[in-house]
Amino acid sequence: MSSTSSSVLTLSSFNLLFFTQVLTVLSSTIKYNEYATDKGGNVSIPCIAQGNIMWVKEHGNNSTIVQTGRVLVLRNVSTTDAGIYVCFASVPRPSTTATSATTSPQNQQEKETRPLEDEDGGHGESVSPTDDQPKEAEMEEEVEYLAHQRTKLIVRTVPGPVSQLYFKASTILGFLIWRFNKTQSGGYPVRSFTAEYRNVSYKTPPANASFEHAWSRMDPINIAFNVRQMEVYRLAPNTTYEFRIWANNELGSGEVVTTNVTTLPETKEEGRYSSLIPDDCH
Ligand SMILES: *[C@@H]1O[C@H](CO)[C@@H](O)[C@H](O)[C@H]1NC(C)=O
Ligand SMILES: *[C@@H]1O[C@H](CO)[C@@H](O)[C@H](O)[C@H]1NC(C)=O
Ligand SMILES: *[C@@H]1O[C@H](CO)[C@@H](O)[C@H](O)[C@H]1NC(C)=O
Ligand SMILES: *[C@@H]1O[C@H](CO)[C@@H](O)[C@H](O)[C@H]1NC(C)=O
Ligand SMILES: *[C@@H]1O[C@H](CO)[C@@H](O)[C@H](O)[C@H]1NC(C)=O
Ligand SMILES: *[C@@H]1O[C@H](CO)[C@@H](O)[C@H](O)[C@H]1NC(C)=O
Ligand SMILES: *[C@@H]1O[C@H](CO)[C@@H](O)[C@H](O)[C@H]1NC(C)=O
Ligand SMILES: *[C@@H]1O[C@H](CO)[C@@H](O)[C@H](O)[C@H]1NC(C)=O
Ligand SMILES: *[C@@H]1O[C@H](CO)[C@@H](O)[C@H](O)[C@H]1NC(C)=O
Repeated sequence: MSSTSSSVLTLSSFNLLFFTQVLTVLSSTIKYNEYATDKGGNVSIPCIAQGNIMWVKEHGNNSTIVQTGRVLVLRNVSTTDAGIYVCFASVPRPSTTATSATTSPQNQQEKETRPLEDEDGGHGESVSPTDDQPKEAEMEEEVEYLAHQRTKLIVRTVPGPVSQLYFKASTILGFLIWRFNKTQSGGYPVRSFTAEYRNVSYKTPPANASFEHAWSRMDPINIAFNVRQMEVYRLAPNTTYEFRIWANNELGSGEVVTTNVTTLPETKEEGRYSSLIPDDCH
C-alpha cells in the first residue's frame, strides 16, 4: 500500500464502513497517544492539525463520528467512553476551491461581524454578501480528510470482581479462597481486599433486612493485596454462612462477590474439635 496516497481519505457521505477500512491502513503512520482519567472526570484532548477537525471513535468495524472541533471534550466519562479516538483534519484541495476550503468557521464569523462592530470606527472592510455562496455550495462537495492522531482513552474505575471465590468448610473452621485477575484492577493497583461473613441459617426467611444477622468483618480488616486465602475460625457446625469479598483501590470499594456455605454437622469424633483451634491450644 502506498502510504502517502492511501493516507488521504475521501468522505462524500460519512460512509462509516469505508472510514474504518482506511483507519486500519493508517494506524501505523499517524501519531499515537494515551490519556487516562478517573470515571466521572472530564477530559480535553487536543488535535494538532490544521483545517476542520472531526473525531471518530473506533467500534471494531463500526466507527462513528463523535465530535467536531480541535479539542475533543468528554465530561463525566464512563467506562463506555474508553477506547480509541482518531482525529481527522480536512485537507486543503489543490483546486480553485482550495482557498475557501481552508477558511475556518471562525474566520467566516469574524468577517461577517466586523462591518457591524466597525460602524463607528469608519474603516469597515466591505464584505460582499455573495462571498458565502461558494462556501455553502462547497459543503456539498467531497472533502478530503487525513488521519492525524490516534488517542487511547483509559477510564479508571474501582476494581472489578474477584474470580473463583469458594469456601472450603469443615465443622468449625474453613478457608475462604479466591483469585483475582490483574486486568480487573480498574487502572489503579489493588490496595487490599475486604471480606465479611454472616449467619444465614434461618429456619424461616427473615421478613426484611432488619431481621438479618449483621455482617462480621474478617481479621485483618484490610487483607493484603497479594493474599488469596483466609482462614476462618470459630464457625458453628451445621450452619449456613454467607461470605462476601471485594477489592479496594484508590477510587474505593470494588464489585462484591458472594458465596454461601454450610458447615458440617458435629460428630462424636469432631466433638474434640477444640484441640484444632490454635487459640485454645494455649
Ligand atoms: C466536569 O465539568 C463539569 C462542567 O463543566 C463541572 O461541573 C465538573 O465539576 C467537572 N468535573 C471535574 C471532575 O472536573
Ligand atoms: C461488522 O461486524 C459485524 C458484527 O461484529 C459483522 O456481522 C459484520 O459482517 C461486519 N462487517 C464488516 C464489513 O466487516
Ligand atoms: C454501529 O454503531 C452505531 C452507533 O454506535 C450503532 O447504532 C449501530 O447499531 C452499530 N452497528 C453495528 C453493526 O454494530
Ligand atoms: C455522571 O454520569 C453518571 C452515569 O454514568 C450519572 O449517574 C451521574 O449523575 C453523572 N453526574 C453528573 C454530575 O452529571
Ligand atoms: C485475565 O483476564 C484477561 C482479560 O479478560 C484474560 O485474557 C486473561 O486470560 C485472564 N488471566 C487469567 C490468569 O485468568
Ligand atoms: C444462626 O441463625 C439462626 C437463625 O437466626 C439461629 O437459629 C442460629 O442459632 C444462628 N447460629 C449461630 C451459630 O449464631
Ligand atoms: C422491617 O419490619 C419491621 C416490622 O415488620 C418494621 O418495623 C421495620 O420498619 C421494617 N424495616 C424495613 C427496613 O423495612
Ligand atoms: C446466600 O443465602 C442468602 C440467604 O438465604 C441469600 O439471600 C443469598 O442470595 C445467598 N447467596 C448466594 C450467593 O447464594
Ligand atoms: C443440621 O441442621 C438442620 C436444620 O438446619 C437440622 O434439620 C439437622 O438435623 C442438623 N443436623 C445435625 C447433624 O445436627
